[in-house]
Amino acid sequence: MYEKIKETARFLMDIGLEKPEIGIVLGTGLGGIVKMIKIEKKIPYHDIPNFPVSTVSGHSGTLIYGELAGKKVVVMQGRFHYYEGWEMSEVTFPIRVMKLLGIEKLMVSNACGGVNPEFKVGDVMIITDHINMMPEHPLRGENEERFGPRFVDMHEPYSLKMVRLMRSIAIENKLDIKEGVYLALQGPTFETPAEYRMVKLMGADAVGMSTVPEVIVAKHMGMECFGLSVITDLGIEGKIEEVSHEAVQIAAKSSENMISKLVEEFIGRL
Ligand code: HPA
Repeated sequence: MYEKIKETARFLMDIGLEKPEIGIVLGTGLGGIVKMIKIEKKIPYHDIPNFPVSTVSGHSGTLIYGELAGKKVVVMQGRFHYYEGWEMSEVTFPIRVMKLLGIEKLMVSNACGGVNPEFKVGDVMIITDHINMMPEHPLRGENEERFGPRFVDMHEPYSLKMVRLMRSIAIENKLDIKEGVYLALQGPTFETPAEYRMVKLMGADAVGMSTVPEVIVAKHMGMECFGLSVITDLGIEGKIEEVSHEAVQIAAKSSENMISKLVEEFIGRL
């Protein structure tokens, strides 16, 4: 696996992905951030050696390299979900590649269901911590020492420094931003009312089907992580409605301007 990852990183370096500083994973409906990037390279996943190819609509599957707020970034437009059938090593493959490209800072984003009664649809939440309830751990199996240790410290999965920075940017811009714990389930079903209740009881504020494996693997490699969620539907007693992928995309899109503004300033000040 290490050799494959190295081969992919080398390919990307050879075509001009030089010294990127920050990796960004764009979640469902959050592709609008791309408009703010001075794009230098746009590579469909299927043109990248060893890259898995995404299948879900709304996840276009393109790797973007360019400049955002003065910083060189590598952006995944479309991610690999466990529920699509990918192995955890495939889900997290691009994060490993980012590290070998020299990236030390990762920003992930997603659309998710809110279970905190203070939340409403369209809210943006800084992920302050996570709960891994995926059925498989991305670090299960033989450890690759060249990436990181067998037992990974997780006392600060999301960089406090980055959380504080985003918090102050939101305050300065008079934007209401939420904070909370993200819990990952495998999906692809959305939660039943009883499952939403379970998620809340477990101590989470939001639930989704991604992000956590990527952050675990990034932490394995010593990367600094930051995460943003858009609350696209509510798993709150009395407020539970039918959810669809389309509704999630539309709700995420409605927060695009706010997210774009926050992210641009955030990246610029990192
Ligand atoms: N649950 C899980 N994943 C999601 C949700 C949800 O309610 N909304 C968007 N992604």
